[in-house]
Amino acid sequence: MLRYLTAGESHGPALIAIVEGLPSGLALTADYVNRQLKRRQGGYGRGARMSIESDKVEFLSGVRGGITLGSPLTLYIGNKDWSNWSQIMSPDPEALVEEKVVTRPRPGHADLAGALKYRHKDIRNVLERSSARETAARVAVGSTARKLLEELGIEITGQVLQIGGINADIGKNDPEELKKHLASSQVLCADPVAERQIIDRIEQARQKGDTLGGVFEVRVHGAPAGLGSYVHWDRKIDASLAAALMSIQAVKGVEVGMGFNGAALMGSQFQDEIFYQKDRGFYRATNRAGGIEGGMTNGEVIVLRAAVKPIPTLYQPLQSVDLIDKTISRAAIERSDVCAVPAACVIGEAVVAWEIARACLEKCHGDSLDELKENWSHYLTYLRQV
Ligand SMILES: Cc1cc2nc3c(=O)[nH]c(=O)nc-3n(C[C@H](O)[C@H](O)[C@H](O)COP(=O)(O)O)c2cc1C
Repeated sequence: MLRYLTAGESHGPALIAIVEGLPSGLALTADYVNRQLKRRQGGYGRGARMSIESDKVEFLSGVRGGITLGSPLTLYIGNKDWSNWSQIMSPDPEALVEEKVVTRPRPGHADLAGALKYRHKDIRNVLERSSARETAARVAVGSTARKLLEELGIEITGQVLQIGGINADIGKNDPEELKKHLASSQVLCADPVAERQIIDRIEQARQKGDTLGGVFEVRVHGAPAGLGSYVHWDRKIDASLAAALMSIQAVKGVEVGMGFNGAALMGSQFQDEIFYQKDRGFYRATNRAGGIEGGMTNGEVIVLRAAVKPIPTLYQPLQSVDLIDKTISRAAIERSDVCAVPAACVIGEAVVAWEIARACLEKCHGDSLDELKENWSHYLTYLRQV
């Protein structure tokens, strides 16, 4: 079983993840993971924190000579900002916990509910962990899954479809052009016209002390039919993918395939008719279902979209109430992004990679990569010949 845990505070010494269940024999280097970490840090509209950090992973266990051992992987990402916070965030009883205290909860954050739930008097104790800094660990974890999926011929791509109400027109681009533009886009958007407008909109928001949200899409290419299951609610792959995407900070909605737009169609307009070709097996000419039917992949491209709300920390803060003395005051300001939709998309790719890798291992098993690939190849042959 593939599973992981993460730990670490935003201004603590490091972020840590422990990954268990990755087969032995997978080639995995820090450079590979670091490329994804770098993508997460990018995107026009990020705040000053991203210029302090340059996230790099270190494997503390589970990899030897660039190859996974089959034992638990420990991933370590140091926080450079720790040097500025070591006395305030120190675990020692002598820590300077009276400094940088936060008592004015920010609307839209975990601040208020988190302080009430855990009986904290200093909201810093909440925001240090609820912050999206934690997602660096999840991107590192997702990269290990992405590497495994590459071995199985499965590719994960992501792109931003909308920021601040400006929609990308992606219909006109062919996939190769799209890939080329995405690689250089500052907002992970395949439409260069929309990209320019989005950058202007982000600048306008920044000048007003305001923030933006948007929509991103993640696609999974090469997943065969039969990942996930219809037999029980917690084995449905659309459910696990939606939960993974919803768990990303600021994601407020998830769609599969046509999603909410499909709800207005007739059944005859929505369902994807079934075709068959010798040596290809069953396939569809349309993909309104987004590659998932009955809690299982159906062999078509998996299409997922997520809506990201605008960043809650505002440099022109909204009203709040002080946690301690109950006075009405403006919400606290923590160093913050104006827009993080491109970064959220990279995180989306990572969490989707993880869920797909988990489903692949569940379907075909394998303590070693070789064993997994043998089982995988048998299954693909069966699907082509059935
Ligand atoms: C990549 C990324 C970066 C984010 N950066 C910030 C930020 O700088 N400031 C902020 O207030 N919220 C930021 N957020 C959003 C908050 O973390 C999130 O809204 C908050 O934790 C509350 O969770 P919820 O929106 O899921 O309810 C970011 C989210 C993501 C995905």
